Amino acid sequence: MIEVTRSVGSEVGRRPVIVRTVAELRTHVDAWRRAGETVAMVPTMGALHEGHLSLVEEGFRRATHVVVSIFVNPTQFAPHEDFQTYPRTEGTDVEKLAGLGTDLVFAPNALEMYPLGSVTRVEVAGPALGLETDFRPHFFSGVATVVAKLLVACAPDIAIFGEKDYQQLAVVRQMVRDLMIPVEIVGGATVREADGLAMSSRNAYLSPRERVIAPRLVAEMRRVAETVRAGGDAASALATAKAALLAAGFDRVDYLEIRNAVTLAAPSETGEPLRLLAALWLGRTRLIDNIAV
Ligand code: PAJ
Repeated sequence: MIEVTRSVGSEVGRRPVIVRTVAELRTHVDAWRRAGETVAMVPTMGALHEGHLSLVEEGFRRATHVVVSIFVNPTQFAPHEDFQTYPRTEGTDVEKLAGLGTDLVFAPNALEMYPLGSVTRVEVAGPALGLETDFRPHFFSGVATVVAKLLVACAPDIAIFGEKDYQQLAVVRQMVRDLMIPVEIVGGATVREADGLAMSSRNAYLSPRERVIAPRLVAEMRRVAETVRAGGDAASALATAKAALLAAGFDRVDYLEIRNAVTLAAPSETGEPLRLLAALWLGRTRLIDNIAV
């Protein structure tokens, strides 16, 4: 169901054009450019939910055309991670995108994005250090590499990324600045289920029992943020939240930390903007979330 309040393209309901090569992608975008129209890109790995769709809507608020890429990027998965089992649902993804009037879907295969013999990788320091990198050291190199390639291939005016993956958004902003890629990076607010759980393609892995436990994460995070805002001690609030989450049924806390909201460095001065970021395991599912403090 499409609500009337949604920001959508002019071709609502029409199936988007699906292209699988960079050459075809460029042909479409070049034609729009020559017509003086603007282009927003929303990179995804598919298994689309309302969080992804909110980024497409943001695209239509800011540009004439929206290109969505669907590519499960092998270089951001470690060998032991869920690359093989990651949900692949292109048919229903395209239907959802048609509902918003999405113009173009770029759905390349791995050889299109990484032709034989390609050996270049993008390594970002700064905001990529710590947090996710302490547990998934391969991750941001894979993300930065594929996002750089997608942005160069599409050459959009803007590209939209979710705050759900807050460190990823910071890494992409840094990478675009450092590589002088002429694109404006826009962050989109995290879309949540009614009980607070941040939407994620990986939520599909949760068992019914785990799905009941999962929203405790954001509930505990909100409690920490309130305590810190009220002048309470951050370290003890974080320790209390970790203990509560483990008692609630979470299996492991990778991190639950307060950082500078812009640099993601450890907080060092009073009055700086703060962000609470978390990654925890619930059974075989790793949940990540973050909120403003
Ligand atoms: P994926 O997990 O499919 O997410 C695609 C985009 O949707 C990301 O920018 C992510 O932050 C955003 N997103 C996910 N859940 C969201 C939610 N609940 N609310 C708002 N936005 C949400 O992130 C990736 O793919 C990949 O790393 C990618 C950037 C495509 C590179 O491969």
